[in-house]
Amino acid sequence: MGPQTATSLGTLWTAVTRAGGAVGFAPDAPEADIRAAAEQAIEDVRAGREQLFVLDADGELVGAVFLRRGPKATVRHRADVVRLMVHPDLQGRGWGKALLDAVVAHATAIGLEQLLLSARGGTTLPDFYAKQGWRQVGLFPDALRIGPDDLRDEHWFQLRL
Ligand SMILES: CC(C)(COP(=O)(O)OP(=O)(O)OC[C@H]1O[C@@H](n2cnc3c(N)ncnc32)[C@H](O)[C@@H]1OP(=O)(O)O)[C@@H](O)C(=O)NCCC(=O)NCCS
Repeated sequence: MGPQTATSLGTLWTAVTRAGGAVGFAPDAPEADIRAAAEQAIEDVRAGREQLFVLDADGELVGAVFLRRGPKATVRHRADVVRLMVHPDLQGRGWGKALLDAVVAHATAIGLEQLLLSARGGTTLPDFYAKQGWRQVGLFPDALRIGPDDLRDEHWFQLRL
């Protein structure tokens, strides 16, 4: 995994964000900010703080998801699933589900007991995760600011393994 991975991830993440994807940024967020976040994410993978699962098509990075293990003894039985994304041109073909299934299978294989994730309100994402068998366990009202007048709830999901 070289520096080109961060560049490819930045390109994918920007395309997903511009298409309205809910991966940490408002749709009009500066590309430099998204690319900086991609570099940080890849650095976290290199340092062993996170694991990266990818989808490739014709040598291009077209899908990604990260698994972040609990960092200390009290939370080591669980992990967060973060930044699930599939390129906007390739969504709706079962690839997002395939990525999520891969993370769940890996988490099960390494003995984790549960997974957590959060999803942006005002989108169909909560329905997507519910359909994949995750249970909504909480909701933080107005926890996300997407624009000056656009506050969204954050939906918290859990999957017991
Ligand atoms: C969310 C995302 C990863 C789903 O990936 P995808 O490849 O488009 O979804 P899939 O084709 O694998 O869909 C799997 C199933 O979920 C359903 N589904 C897909 N997206 C959905 C959505 N947004 N809302 C509700 N259901 C959805 C599909 O209809 C399909 O159902 P089926 O198995 O009965 O046919 C993708 O749309 C994406 O990258 N979105 C932008 C980034 C984003 O917002 N990520 C969320 C971070 S929390």
